[in-house]
Amino acid sequence: MKKEFSIREFSNVDSSEFFSKYFRSLLLQSMLPYSVAFKSFAADHFRLRSDASIVDIGCGCGSACAYFSAHLGDGGRIVGVDRCQKFLDYCDAYIAPNFPQAFFVRGDVRKLTFADNEFDCCFIDRVLHHVDDIAAALQEIRRILKPGGKLVVMEPDFASAILSPKYKDVSTIWQEYFAKDVTHAKMGRELMSIMMDNGFGDLYSKAETVDVNNLNFCCSFGVSFYAYLERAVADGRLSQVVVDEYLQRVDGVDGRRKEMHFMMDLFMVAGVNNK
Ligand SMILES: C[S@@+](CC[C@H](N)C(=O)[O-])C[C@H]1O[C@@H](n2cnc3c(N)ncnc32)[C@H](O)[C@@H]1O
Repeated sequence: MKKEFSIREFSNVDSSEFFSKYFRSLLLQSMLPYSVAFKSFAADHFRLRSDASIVDIGCGCGSACAYFSAHLGDGGRIVGVDRCQKFLDYCDAYIAPNFPQAFFVRGDVRKLTFADNEFDCCFIDRVLHHVDDIAAALQEIRRILKPGGKLVVMEPDFASAILSPKYKDVSTIWQEYFAKDVTHAKMGRELMSIMMDNGFGDLYSKAETVDVNNLNFCCSFGVSFYAYLERAVADGRLSQVVVDEYLQRVDGVDGRRKEMHFMMDLFMVAGVNNK
């Protein structure tokens, strides 16, 4: 079976043989409209003072830490937290020296080492769908946020993913395998309720879409296109003949056949710590 890097491994990139692909994927995604829109949504909600303290949980390669650093003055700071050391090594080498308000520490959102009430704001971008105990994670975030502290979260809704063209059952079955590959496939649409049930109020949300016409680009996100189809054939859900016909339609030499279109919704939710 074809081994592709998959979104599932984002929960533990240190142990993956594809670290450089995850790294490039995050850099690419940080330039896309939905990622830029989320940072701006967060900045509007935070209404940052120059001396604010922010925590970015699951900071990856640190693009949000660099973005928010530019809004902070001498008394302000942003701390990037990630459970993967390889991302932190990059941030320490390339982000921290250029953005004096940015610091990086290793940690797990389910058990953070910060003091109670340490931060004014928390930013968390595409992390919670990897976490088994989301309630524990949100309790930790409440603990380290001040009363009235602000939280913004963005989560994809993997079950909203659409792959076109519809060819026999291929795209429908592909969508099923894609959604099954993450811990919480419907995290996006459930996010607002989860935040409300875990002590956050004054909630509001906005949706963004990721919209890709290029198969190579789609795969570069960690969307395991070929591997899911192979799995469906191995499980007897699709015939190899039908998959081959489908691949001929979408898989041009340069990955740019017009018939390929991937789309998925992401939800951004802002709230306030009700503590
Ligand atoms: C899809 S990436 C998003 C990275 C970053 N927020 C961004 O916007 O580029 C998910 C990140 O969450 C981190 N992560 C996954 N599970 C975590 C956990 N339990 N605690 C802290 N970080 C975690 C991963 O190492 C990875 O950097």
